[in-house]
Amino acid sequence: MNASAAKSVTLYEVGPRDGLQNEKQAVPPEVKIEYINRLARTGLRFIEATSFVKPGAIPQLQDAAEVMSGIERPDSVNFVALVPNQRGMQAAIDAGLRTIAVFTAASDAFTQKNINCTVAESLARFADVFALAREHSIRVRAYVSTVVECPYAGRIDPGAVLQVSQKLLDMGAYEISLGETIGVAVPDDIARLLDALLSDIPADKLAGHYHDTRGTALANVMRSLEYGLRTFDASSAGLGGCPYAPGAAGNVATEDLVYALERSGYETGVNLVALAEASRYILENMQRASVSRVYATIPQQN
Ligand code: HMG
Ligand code: MG
Repeated sequence: MNASAAKSVTLYEVGPRDGLQNEKQAVPPEVKIEYINRLARTGLRFIEATSFVKPGAIPQLQDAAEVMSGIERPDSVNFVALVPNQRGMQAAIDAGLRTIAVFTAASDAFTQKNINCTVAESLARFADVFALAREHSIRVRAYVSTVVECPYAGRIDPGAVLQVSQKLLDMGAYEISLGETIGVAVPDDIARLLDALLSDIPADKLAGHYHDTRGTALANVMRSLEYGLRTFDASSAGLGGCPYAPGAAGNVATEDLVYALERSGYETGVNLVALAEASRYILENMQRASVSRVYATIPQQN
């Protein structure tokens, strides 16, 4: 890896999906479309726009097809949607997605609540999804949730994370996103996890997806950088959480990551002022305050 590549970080925006999936209030599709269009003009190269899941499981994202058909799709941005099974994959293909994300966990107790099956059953289900992806030349990202702790089963052995991650890579996933779903981890937890994973998986196949329930997500990102990870998931204005992980807050705010990374000499390609404007748009529509400290320092544009 040359020096400039080593100093470049990819931010993977999950606000429209992980952020909005956990909102109590209904956000109209036209507001989601405008929010995503604004995010797409900030320099972000990855935006997870929605999920093709069972509407009863995540009512907030049941407008997935409408949102995908309404957004502008500049070539500079990879739009991604979550897909749990073959039915969701077909919907993603119909919507013209070029990248999708499957999701499972390192804990059966979590997958039972979230996707109504065990981890092993989820992988069996994904076989059809990967087959369709190959047929349509669609890239597959894979989430592994509960990489440090499960809200139902407690602490997770890093070996369990390694095992499921390895299987997903063998199936054809281009990247594993490590879901610290409930936001309990401190940097030493992440270090223990990465010590176990990096013996078998190269750092450029791993992304950090850290929820910020206890304010430790940014510290976890900074520790992960020392291990060579260069892709991090983040949510504009820190929106979000998972309905099947009660009490978990949103991901680390994208604004906080852009600020911390750029000031530490990493290039993100994201314009912080434009990003804050996209956040302001969705926050005003939802009448919500941002949890991002960096957001609060950015003067409002006209
Ligand atoms: P199930 O009930 O076991 O599924 O749900 P099923 O196959 O028995 O089907 C039941 C009904 O759902 C059927 O309809 C299906 O057609 C329909 P009916 O015949 O009864 O009318 N159905 C669907 N409809 C639309 N799209 C689909 C679909 N699939 C089935 N794709 C299932 C299993 C996995 C589908 C369900 O549990 C589900 O959709 N779960 C999604 C949960 C979710 O989205 N959670 C949040 C995202 S994960 C997360 O936030 C964590 C992450 O951020 C990382 C981290 O932080 O750790 C990624
Ligand atoms: Mg999440």
